[in-house]
Amino acid sequence: MPTYETITVDRRDAVAVLTINRPEKLNALNKQVHAEAVRALDELKADETVKVLVITGSGEKSFIAGADIREFQAQTPITQRDTFHERTLFNSIDTFPKPVIAMINGFCLGGGNELALACDIRICSENAKFSQPEINLGLIPGGGGTQRLTRLIGEGRSMEIMLTGDMIDAQTAYNFGLVNHVYTAAELESKTMELANKIAEKAPIALQLAKEAVKFASRSSLDEGLRREVDLFALCFSTEDKQEGVSAFLEKRKPVFKGK
Ligand code: COA
Repeated sequence: MPTYETITVDRRDAVAVLTINRPEKLNALNKQVHAEAVRALDELKADETVKVLVITGSGEKSFIAGADIREFQAQTPITQRDTFHERTLFNSIDTFPKPVIAMINGFCLGGGNELALACDIRICSENAKFSQPEINLGLIPGGGGTQRLTRLIGEGRSMEIMLTGDMIDAQTAYNFGLVNHVYTAAELESKTMELANKIAEKAPIALQLAKEAVKFASRSSLDEGLRREVDLFALCFSTEDKQEGVSAFLEKRKPVFKGK
């Protein structure tokens, strides 16, 4: 197992929990976090025992308080462009083939919100706060926020968040469809793990193809999306897990999926 300084990776049976671990800086994303998390994602992608990934921040106050603002001081347009044109953490999450759940335990700001947006499902605690505060720094989001937030919650709501930089609370985020569930801080982890474990029992290849199909919806026309869905649906028929799922239903027993 590789060692990391700014993240931790904890395997809990079929669910891996990746924690951004800079609580003294509210888990702000610096270059080291980016590099280590991308490395960990590569490793977790290849690990067949991992079926679902949960991403969270350490401590009770913050999920991720955004990009590390201190690092912006030395960035030039060219170095910043290179950083975001290279393989980014946001894209590594977006293209991660297994389900990814953001467990949001406090401040979810800027790049933190963009990271959560790259995940498949977002769950937060009652004390979570969300914003894209880049405008207050004379910036705009650069980690996918303008595109992913707008596709998720619509242009008007997204505009207000981008243009004011104001924080919204957990209930508002829920009402906007930014998060799927809001729990008390005490319940957040157990409820998130319950959902992660439920998903982890499903057929892994079908999970991967379902993700691909759903993600394609906001990146294609309806006709292209429907065609892609049919192809991916048909691809499921090549798996042993489809045989197992259908047989188990007909034999009135629980399926045992193998990821084959
Ligand atoms: N980048 C770098 N450091 C950050 C950070 C960020 N995005 N967010 C917080 N920190 C650091 C603070 O500088 C402080 O470090 P210090 O103790 O060495 O001074 C530490 O984390 C604790 O933050 P602090 O501001 O003291 O906590 P707070 O409870 O008073 O305020 C926030 C919390 C989230 C409101 C405030 O930290 C903040 O506005 N952070 C920046 C958010 C942001 O603009 N993110 C988007 C960047 S594009």
